[in-house]
Amino acid sequence: MSAHTEKEYIYLTPMPVRIWHWINALGIVTLCITGIQIRFPEYVNIFGSYKAAIRLHNTAGITVSIFYAVWLGYYLIVKGNLFRLYVPSTYDLKMGIFRQVLFYFYHFFKGGASPHHATPDDKFNPMQKMAYMGLMLVLMPLVIVTGILILNVAPLREWIILIGGIKLLVSAHFLIACCFFAFLFVHVYLATMGHTPLAHFKPMWDGWEEVEHH
Ligand code: HEM
Repeated sequence: MSAHTEKEYIYLTPMPVRIWHWINALGIVTLCITGIQIRFPEYVNIFGSYKAAIRLHNTAGITVSIFYAVWLGYYLIVKGNLFRLYVPSTYDLKMGIFRQVLFYFYHFFKGGASPHHATPDDKFNPMQKMAYMGLMLVLMPLVIVTGILILNVAPLREWIILIGGIKLLVSAHFLIACCFFAFLFVHVYLATMGHTPLAHFKPMWDGWEEVEHH
């Protein structure tokens, strides 16, 4: 670090969000791996038996659902800033998103700095807002609801018929799961594109992000 660079830290990620995030990450990875065995049992056998994969899949699904409710309650009721943090502004949609894409595809590789500077009240860049909003406010509720229906086919059969039948339900659950699977790789890759490869991992671990002033 040069003599003209001074380090400063901001508290970006509160503990309940960090606990939720890592339990959720473990849960989603478990759901993806067990889901692959359940969907392709003739090719994949990681957990011994089909039944064991289903049992683990159900347990992980219920855990992720409960923690999703905790996450939602925390941001909606305790902090009251879910929409401010997660919903892109008009500026984000008109300009911010293009500046951010340009950064990820070009300026980053030229050693440039991100156009977005995280603060506790505005911690996500426009691309993160779009991705996290779609994931947490659309895909997550959908995958949970379709999962609950599949888990309770007999008692909820009228609801299942109403939305188009079991085949459509299972296909929708599988397609949403594919989105989560694809998200995981992009998310982990983009998370390494801070001013150092681990800069974005630090606040997800201890809450504090390092800000650099030049
Ligand atoms: C191995 C798996 C994962 C790793 C290593 C990882 C890593 C990270 C890191 C480093 C951050 C903070 C910086 C950033 O936003 O880029 C983050 C934030 C976030 N991640 Fe992940 N993640 C993983 C899985 C997931 C999964 C499965 C989901 C959702 C289904 C998820 C949703 C989020 C959300 C919503 C945030 C923002 C949290 C907040 O501050 O409110 N992550 N993740």
